[in-house]
Amino acid sequence: MKRSVIKGTGRFLPSRCVTNDDLSKMMDTNDEWIQQRTGIKTRYWIPEGETVGASDLALEASKKALDKAGWQPEEIDLIIFATLSPDIYFPGAGCFLQTKLGLTDTPALDIRQQCTGFVYAMSTADAYIRSGMYNKILVVGAEVHSTGLDKTTAGRDVSVLFGDGAAAVCVEAVETENNVGVLGSILKADGKYAEKLMLELPASKYPERINEEMLKTGGHFPIMDGTRIFKLAVRKLPEITKEILEQTGLTLDDIDLVIPHQANLRINEAYQKTLGLPSEKVFNNIQKYGNTTAATIPLALDETIEQGLVDTKSSTVLFVALGAGLTWAAMIYRF
Ligand code: ACO
Repeated sequence: MKRSVIKGTGRFLPSRCVTNDDLSKMMDTNDEWIQQRTGIKTRYWIPEGETVGASDLALEASKKALDKAGWQPEEIDLIIFATLSPDIYFPGAGCFLQTKLGLTDTPALDIRQQCTGFVYAMSTADAYIRSGMYNKILVVGAEVHSTGLDKTTAGRDVSVLFGDGAAAVCVEAVETENNVGVLGSILKADGKYAEKLMLELPASKYPERINEEMLKTGGHFPIMDGTRIFKLAVRKLPEITKEILEQTGLTLDDIDLVIPHQANLRINEAYQKTLGLPSEKVFNNIQKYGNTTAATIPLALDETIEQGLVDTKSSTVLFVALGAGLTWAAMIYRF
């Protein structure tokens, strides 16, 4: 039976570390508010004035993942690129990454599922592998948020949360009877909450709103009903965790580490308490990186492997995420 097995991971962060104090010089905010409400201390943004897209960060992360997997770029059968901040409106960031990897003809697709992007991307990779269509898939989550945020006081509820970053995973079809690799995934969406977190303009639907007024009123910046999303997250993340455990026939005791999306430390603490998990079983690094959206989970995976918190010979990990759409998803992976 063909299983989707992770052969290598890699991460890349831009060099500019932005502290909460740095932000307080741009807008009316402060370190205490940001840390208390979100847990975030720093985030990394691309250097000011440099032209850098999500595909540039993704390239650096991909090189490291390919290196660890021992793959040459030419061996990649498919690139799946999860992002909400593609280099340009279209074509997708996957096409830019493909050419930066020196490839021609290799198919590349973008997944536009925001904070849930990586789990959707991994699940898509798993489906292709199980179907026999592709054997070696490069899955990437990468974001450049910093150039698209309202860094004035009007946008402070959103802009303090987000960081730039990228991480990549090489997923390979392995013929095995062992219960390893992707054990299961659940993907969900509920479009009735779409307007609770969105970036509306420019939009093909509203050509008349692409004007100077858009720039003045900030229609091109993301907006969020943070309280509503927070409440949905603390309910739906434990719910989908129970569902994926049931689907795979596992219990929380079988999970060595939960790697949740990093949107807010308080969300992840509430998740951990609701499920009665010890704090060391739920990994957090939002303190350092902020919310890097589609990159949070692969970035954390790469870091936890490096730190020895995930054993690539035996650990069972659970990925869980919720974000704009509304979308939410979970996956269990066994090394
Ligand atoms: N600095 C200082 N004060 C601020 C800031 C800031 N950066 N932002 C907001 N405030 C103020 C508000 O104006 C408000 O002031 P008021 O009481 O005078 O009106 C006060 O702080 C409280 O604001 P709330 O929005 O109620 O604060 P809350 O405790 O809900 O925290 C937060 C806000 C951090 C955004 C939280 O709601 C959250 O994390 N929500 C979920 C985010 C999430 O999970 N998003 C999904 C993933 S992202 C994706 O998919 C792209």
